[in-house]
Amino acid sequence: MRRALVAGNWKMHGSLAESGRLVDELVALRAGAGGAEVIVCPPFVYLSEIARRAGGAAIGLGAQDVCAEESGAHTGEVSAAMLADVGCSYVIVGHSERRSLYGEDDALVARKFVAAQRHGLVPILCVGESLAERESGAMPAVVTRQVDVVLQVAGVAAFAGAVVAYEPVWAIGTGRTASAGQAQEVHALIRGRIAASDATIAASLRILYGGSVKAANAAELFAMPDVDGGLVGGASLQAGEFATICAAAGP
Ligand code: PGA
Repeated sequence: MRRALVAGNWKMHGSLAESGRLVDELVALRAGAGGAEVIVCPPFVYLSEIARRAGGAAIGLGAQDVCAEESGAHTGEVSAAMLADVGCSYVIVGHSERRSLYGEDDALVARKFVAAQRHGLVPILCVGESLAERESGAMPAVVTRQVDVVLQVAGVAAFAGAVVAYEPVWAIGTGRTASAGQAQEVHALIRGRIAASDATIAASLRILYGGSVKAANAAELFAMPDVDGGLVGGASLQAGEFATICAAAGP
């Protein structure tokens, strides 16, 4: 039995005041009080404030990225130890915006995955193909490669304490959602890939769907047998919309 997880990825939006208001609204709406586990992933600089406001309200905290290095001379970076220190329990690694805009490759993403786990953080490993890759039939190869590199570097046992998010690049922020059937197909592919190494770990692995999840399509996506929740961008910035998505992930 996998407990659904809904993660709000706030990306680089909002001010301190707006972020505070958003989490206050989520607390008031009891967004984390349903059956699904709920976390928000604000920008680094707001993490402490959001942790303070969400404290005790069953809304967990994640970061959007982490440095692969432990500490030291890495100007501008934020370590896994620092994220754990301010109350994060999750961190997104390998988001497609990090891969495409900031040049992160599979090897770096795998190192970030390992760095997160070293400090007790649960990595949310993002994978997903571009539109061109989907149209050329390369989706299975791309998604498999993205999973395999982390499997090779971290080992299958590491997936017992991890979450995978399937985020087709063509669905992120575009309003174009993968159909429930398309999501299920790729989620089953990912689970099968892990199962080839360890069936028990694969059966307990939570695989989230991300890419234009909204209140209007969440229930249909979450009803798929291998979809265990969502990684929600734009719709996580509206408290009511996000709370409805969280409720849709509950039992
Ligand atoms: P979106 O973003 O819900 O706005 O498509 C999802 C994500 O990038 O995590």
